[in-house]
Amino acid sequence: PAPGWAIDADVVVVGSGVAGLTAALRCTAAGLRAVVVTKARLDDGSTRWAQGGIAAALGEGDTPEQHLDDTLVAGAGLCDERAVRALVTEGPDAVRRLIATGADFDKTADGEIALTREGGHHRRRIAHAGGDATGAEISRALVEAIRDRGVRTIEHALVLDLLTDAEGRTAGVTLHVMGEGQHDGVGAVHAPAVVLATGGMGQVFSATTNPGVSTGDGVALAVRAGAEVSDLEFVQFHPTVLFLGAGSEGQQPLVSEAVRGEGAHLVDADGVRFMLGQHELAELAPRDIVAKAITRRMEEQGAEHMYLDARHFGAEMWAERFPTILAACRAHGIDPVTEPIPVAPAAHYASGGVRTDLSGRTTVPGLYACGEVACTGVHGANRLASNSLLEGLVFAERIAEDVVARAPGRGPAVPVDHPAPVVLPLLDPGARRRIQRTMTLGAGVLRSAASLRTASEELDALHIPPVPGEPEAPRAGTAGPAPAHADDPKPEVRKSAEPGVESWETTNLLAVARLLVAAASRREETRGCHWREDRPDRDDARWRRHLVVHLTPERT
Ligand code: SIN
Repeated sequence: PAPGWAIDADVVVVGSGVAGLTAALRCTAAGLRAVVVTKARLDDGSTRWAQGGIAAALGEGDTPEQHLDDTLVAGAGLCDERAVRALVTEGPDAVRRLIATGADFDKTADGEIALTREGGHHRRRIAHAGGDATGAEISRALVEAIRDRGVRTIEHALVLDLLTDAEGRTAGVTLHVMGEGQHDGVGAVHAPAVVLATGGMGQVFSATTNPGVSTGDGVALAVRAGAEVSDLEFVQFHPTVLFLGAGSEGQQPLVSEAVRGEGAHLVDADGVRFMLGQHELAELAPRDIVAKAITRRMEEQGAEHMYLDARHFGAEMWAERFPTILAACRAHGIDPVTEPIPVAPAAHYASGGVRTDLSGRTTVPGLYACGEVACTGVHGANRLASNSLLEGLVFAERIAEDVVARAPGRGPAVPVDHPAPVVLPLLDPGARRRIQRTMTLGAGVLRSAASLRTASEELDALHIPPVPGEPEAPRAGTAGPAPAHADDPKPEVRKSAEPGVESWETTNLLAVARLLVAAASRREETRGCHWREDRPDRDDARWRRHLVVHLTPERT
């Protein structure tokens, strides 16, 4: 359908987590007309679920240089040092500005910002709020600021595609607004700058810490628009997610690294503290190492989970320091004050995403990406704990600076001809669970050429080529998806579905799943959070480089 309505703006921000709202606030403060578009409500993204905190060299004796060192070690040779340097040097002031915006962080008795430790950090440098509700506090403060400053927002709106002008420059987005309101159905926001801040893609796996809205929409949109994406094989599995039983699906409760940071121990089925002797930091090793050690021990013992033992914290500390986790455990019948917590790894964070430069610019002029959807180079092959909220803050500010500097002078709105949104053959939402199971089995914590091949075949069977008979053509040097199979063994989910959020989400999930599997198959080594059982070693000679996907835009 052609867009039924259109509004004009100077910048459209897609997504409403720490990255999106910070970018919108900074652009607004500089006098630009920003519009925030978000798929559910303003506070429904991943930011709200962040527990541990936000890392920055704020403590006495800590320095950005030490934060840089820890980040580079975790990133396993693939960080962009310039991006990390920007993150760690601009981070402390960005956190102070967040506090000035209204976020209330926990303090010590002396009134200083209280800092904890997490995996991979050699210092206490994680600022937190509400004990273990850091993201919820950041989200509250930013949403309040957005409302106070009158920033225009459109909730319950799924962005479909990027609009570009005749020269290929960004001209806005098309979107589908669900429900009653001023703008219903398919419409467009015209703007010369679009900031993707849509979060991650954890829902591509069966069990994840991510909320239901994390369906890879930003990466899928960017690929359709012809932007480069990179490092998709590096999916981080959080080591300690509350184990709710075999076959539990969807968002699972996180048990923050900060619990280990405050001294909790990981023990196996026999009560043995198995991280000792595996790494100098034991339970506080970088999380890829802890996730692998847990998975290995589970396999050795034929166990479905390990245990996190923090009984020694006592009732008072649990209630004061980790109220959210305590409540989540108790809601599931586990009392961490008196018993160890059953935990297992689950999909947590996409270290890769839409490739950007240090100003958040993608390879499509006028299109920016920020936060988990982006690949700025700060995470490399494995993100250091609590660097993600910081990345969202720092790079949102960088993006706002660039958008403001490039904003054309305000004159009367220039009408833009917008084509009808790209209409993909949309996948039936019934395919979602099949995609998730396929990905968990074939591209989860443990991967091999054989498991990835099986996953690839399963996903190909679901794929509907944009133009029947014309598979997408990956460009040279890319890890694009293989063409669809002519014969689909399970046609029941193959049929094209009615446009709607669920069918769009499922279509996006399949697109990112195929790209992820293609990249993971191509990277024939083990590095960071990408663990190939058939290639157990890191191979710097061949693989100290990035896999970049660049598909030609699909148009039907
Ligand atoms: C946690 O609290 O363990 C999550 C922190 C992060 O993912 O950075």
